[in-house]
Amino acid sequence: MKYNFDEEIGRRGTNSIKWDFTDKFLGAKDVLPMWVADMDFKAPAPVINAIKRRAKHGIYGYTGRSESYYDAIINWMKIRHNWEINRNWLTDSPGVVAGLSIAILTFTKPGDKIVIQPPVYTPFFDIIRENGRQIVVNELKLQNGRYVMDFNDLKSKIDSRTKMLILCSPHNPVGRVWTEDELNELGKICAKNDIIILSDEIHSDIIYDDYRHFPIASISEEIAEETITFIAPSKTFNIAGLLNSAVIIPNKKLYDDFENIKYALGMHLGNTFGIEATEACYKYGEEWLEQLICYLEENLSYMKDYFDRNLPKIKVIVPEGTYLVWLDFRETGYSADKINTLLKERARIGLNDGRVYGPGGKGFERINIGCPRSMLKEGLERIKSVFG
Ligand SMILES: Cc1ncc(COP(=O)(O)O)c(C=O)c1O
Repeated sequence: MKYNFDEEIGRRGTNSIKWDFTDKFLGAKDVLPMWVADMDFKAPAPVINAIKRRAKHGIYGYTGRSESYYDAIINWMKIRHNWEINRNWLTDSPGVVAGLSIAILTFTKPGDKIVIQPPVYTPFFDIIRENGRQIVVNELKLQNGRYVMDFNDLKSKIDSRTKMLILCSPHNPVGRVWTEDELNELGKICAKNDIIILSDEIHSDIIYDDYRHFPIASISEEIAEETITFIAPSKTFNIAGLLNSAVIIPNKKLYDDFENIKYALGMHLGNTFGIEATEACYKYGEEWLEQLICYLEENLSYMKDYFDRNLPKIKVIVPEGTYLVWLDFRETGYSADKINTLLKERARIGLNDGRVYGPGGKGFERINIGCPRSMLKEGLERIKSVFG
């Protein structure tokens, strides 16, 4: 391996949300932070160099996105996801959550219903609720250790006010990489009912062996016409602090409407360093990513083995992608409150309480394994010291 993912890099004192703000965001001080979706690895060298080069210039005025920037994204989608996207479909947003929120404001009215599939990424709840729309819960089902979508429940909940569905693909926190058949079925239900799909594919580059990510809009033209896809280099290359993401909208009318509202909200400009870094990631980051995925797979199998041998009551929901792992603590017999207190106060480890992901999250915790193996081992030992 060219890249050394074992390297331990101190992050305290860098204003890192994950390391320096656990008290504020997690309600826990001095914990080993294995929570928010941010890895403890340095970005690929060509990305660091691109940022340094730009920083040296010394003038950081308003920055546009060049054609070579867009070419880098188009090429990445082709080689990594076998999706040929047209330049006219491509636009930008400061971050994926901001983009989702712009789309909610653009395509729905106050009081409209938006479907989500919990347990799911917490801000999906917030951006629907805070924008005055109604949340429709289409809970995932856990079947033999693997989550699946509940299409019958979805169909039963659609009515004339249901205008949108936010898909998390791959799914945070349950780690599913949805199959082509699942996405096709979901897309057809939405098309039949004029439901716009916001497909959050921020985690789509980290896919484990044996699985393949399908951008839902690449499945059929009919689905593409009603889908807005959100991608970003932020999770893949660990540059979330640079706040830059891409939006893919094949339907011209939807594209224009999205652009207008984005402009009205003053969100049409980008961050100088985010733009530089995005282009460098997609042009030069592939080798790093391949090695990262191997490293994460080893972390995953180490963790799975550790739980099987030492903590058999804690079940690992084995992820098919993403560096976030959903752990089932229900067999420990403790209440969700107790599990949380034991983890934070006794084990002194910061995980995400499953309840923040909505229905279906009680008794679960989410762990982030995007860290050097030494840190993973330390985290597991801390859990064992209390639950073992
Ligand atoms: C599914 C999902 N969407 C979006 C985000 C955040 O994206 P951004 O920082 O670009 O708003 C995350 C971060 O964890 C995520 O897991």
